[in-house]
Amino acid sequence: MSRAWDHFVVAIDGPSGSGKSSTSRGVADRLGLRYLDTGAMYRAMTWWMLRQDVDVHDPAAVAARVEEPEILSGTDPLGPTILVDGIDVGLAIRSDEVNAAVSPVAAVPAVRRRLLELQHEIIGAGGIVVEGRDIGSVVAPDADVKVFLTADAAARARRRALEEGGADLEATRESLLARDEIDTGRTTSPLVMAEGAVHVDGTAYSLEDVVDLVVSLVEATAGLNREGTP
Ligand code: DC
Repeated sequence: MSRAWDHFVVAIDGPSGSGKSSTSRGVADRLGLRYLDTGAMYRAMTWWMLRQDVDVHDPAAVAARVEEPEILSGTDPLGPTILVDGIDVGLAIRSDEVNAAVSPVAAVPAVRRRLLELQHEIIGAGGIVVEGRDIGSVVAPDADVKVFLTADAAARARRRALEEGGADLEATRESLLARDEIDTGRTTSPLVMAEGAVHVDGTAYSLEDVVDLVVSLVEATAGLNREGTP
């Protein structure tokens, strides 16, 4: 059965640990859509650069190698995968080493250009929930639904530390805030709330509540579109 949102692009942006991944996966699963974690693509690129001994703090050195790794993203919301040159890096891209290096790599314009191309290929004709920092503003400015998901720093650090298997809370908070600062301050595609985005502060809400809210936004948009169709 086809549904009004089958070709929708749902953009979910926000800072680290705001609950973007769980929310995006939950929404995609509920609505039968694909799911793309663009942060995982930046992490995969970073993992490859580190493995090649590229100096991640030298933008020219990073830019010179961006075309080399083959990055493949699987889009099943219940089991997203990421392969670099055929290697499953799902776990490796969450290491402290990658956490510390990903923001400078993601600030290199050539990296963003290369990954933007891959993201556009995957998004294709739509039917997907895409999470990141610049989805509603740069990757898919025409997205049908745009959400800017935030939560206060303490809530974000708690969530991340839990995801990372009980990592030190204060260290997690510091690493998260350091990434926020670079992601928000960079010149190319900084983290901003896109035009037309709905700001959702999830601090006081459960994951289920936030998923429900975003699903309602998608359904309402689909309903509006249908009414607008002669
Ligand atoms: O969402 P995350 O923590 O996995 O993202 C990892 C890094 O990638 C983070 O520093 C921001 C960057 N990123 C980005 O610059 N643009 C995106 N669309 C997604 C992530």
